[in-house]
Amino acid sequence: MKKISLLIALSLLLTNCKTSEKKEVTTGLIAQKAMVVSARVEASKIGSDILQKGGNAYDAMAATQLALAVVYPVAGNIGGGGFMVYRSNDGKTGALDFREKAPLTASRDMYLDEEGNVIPNKSSFGVHSVGVPGTIAGIFEVYNKFGSLPFKDLIQPSIDMARNGFRVTKKQANALNKTRKRFEKANNYKILFDREWTEGDLLQQKELAQTLERIRDNGQDGFYKGKTAQLFVDYVNELGGIISLEDLVKYKAIWRKPIEFTYKDHKIISMTLPASGGICLAQILKSIEPYDLSEIEHNSTKYVQLLTEAERRSYADRTNFLGDIDFVNVPIDSLTSTNYIKQRMSTFSWDKATPSSEVSHGKVLGYESDETTHYSIVDQFGNAVSVTTTLNTGYGSKVLVKGAGFFLNNEMDDFSAKPGVPNVYGLLGSEANAIAPEKRMLSSMTPTIVEYNGKLKMVIGTPGGSTIITSVLQNILNVVDYNMGMQESVNQPRFHHQWLPDIIRMEPNGFDKKTKTKLDSLGYQIYEKNSLIIGKVDAILILPNGTLEGGADKRGDDTAVGF
Ligand code: DON
Repeated sequence: MKKISLLIALSLLLTNCKTSEKKEVTTGLIAQKAMVVSARVEASKIGSDILQKGGNAYDAMAATQLALAVVYPVAGNIGGGGFMVYRSNDGKTGALDFREKAPLTASRDMYLDEEGNVIPNKSSFGVHSVGVPGTIAGIFEVYNKFGSLPFKDLIQPSIDMARNGFRVTKKQANALNKTRKRFEKANNYKILFDREWTEGDLLQQKELAQTLERIRDNGQDGFYKGKTAQLFVDYVNELGGIISLEDLVKYKAIWRKPIEFTYKDHKIISMTLPASGGICLAQILKSIEPYDLSEIEHNSTKYVQLLTEAERRSYADRTNFLGDIDFVNVPIDSLTSTNYIKQRMSTFSWDKATPSSEVSHGKVLGYESDETTHYSIVDQFGNAVSVTTTLNTGYGSKVLVKGAGFFLNNEMDDFSAKPGVPNVYGLLGSEANAIAPEKRMLSSMTPTIVEYNGKLKMVIGTPGGSTIITSVLQNILNVVDYNMGMQESVNQPRFHHQWLPDIIRMEPNGFDKKTKTKLDSLGYQIYEKNSLIIGKVDAILILPNGTLEGGADKRGDDTAVGF
């Protein structure tokens, strides 16, 4: 009892203090040499074990990605796609795009009815929402370029975990149980996941183990050709979908030049199109850079205002200009130039909110949970990889390939099905992100690496749909401007604005009432109800003494493992 009242008194004291004084200083896992931070302890451990065996960060990327496909089926995947940004120990940087793409027979209006209206859920649920997966091509692209251990060693732990099973966590059981009805609706047979789950249940995936064995034995062809491909296409056909064997054979991951820019003497390396993350991050950070944040309290009214106005302008540009650069011309240099940003921010006033334009935006935001996944890796040689990967929403399309045991993504919803009609994240799009055969849908994923004084400083990323960009942003500011440690930064409450809908999403109970009342009086609309979690940031900070601090997001089951 005494303890409880002490705790209450302490928390009252803390809430009454200024934000800068109430910072809860929590330190994440500290490792001397190497670390993996991911959505599940099993995956982080498999990645870290590979490093301990002498593998590098790229080997660990393959191992961690495959492990997540087994232990974190909600977002970890082989039936989805993603992006990787890397910085090798000699300072070289690069980026890999293994984003899904539209099938060969996809067409611009494929989600519209005869009257030209969007058919509800067609782009986001079931077999019609599936894009051609890129994950396995991505893994092999990375492995063939940089891998050092035998591939078998990287995949075997995941095969064993799929066959022998792992224990379901409480959060996982809840997520699975919540999705049961949709599993039933999306499939024409009773899938393995379609039952009632309880924390601690053993989840074994024999068919997935067999698929992984085919990949172990035949490499990339074990997925895009042969039995796996046939099972995939047969089931898609059975359900009336359009992905063909030719689509699978033709898929290629693409090396791209990352977006690189400086923010207050830090070099930021982030993902380029078809991920919008790097461009938007550059725009927002450059909009903020002229302001002296040491004068602005963290998460105060002014802080929320400044970030919101920068975000609003950037997301408006995202809507209009951004799409797959292999299909549309995007003026990346102009959009991120100092002059352009200065001009965009010239209408910003501390006295009142700039209202977003009146474009109609239909329904508000997505009701799906936060289900992409990010992992950060630093190896004992100094290489770093930052990978965000997804099926799009939780369990993707909910279609589980019969006989092959893996979920297919619902990434087609990231295209703009029709201008002015929002996707599940409330994001709008334009011509630049219209559907075309083999085009990649625009993403918000923002795997990022930060360098300072020529040295690696931070590896960071998160899931969260449209909120990915602003979560990465806030964590960069936490560390660079507010001197927080990695775990402390990850723990901070977050907020988000994306131009339309014209609201600030805030994690509930994270911001004090005074701040919210003041924001309201300045014309900002705050929305907490549907914002229980904004992102799950998994990051690594290199401390001044060279050790690594993990930031594993407690909003999920995320865990850092290292040595
Ligand atoms: O690529 C994108 O931006 C989305 N498909 C990411 C989805 C995501 O983060 C899921 N979490 N809400």
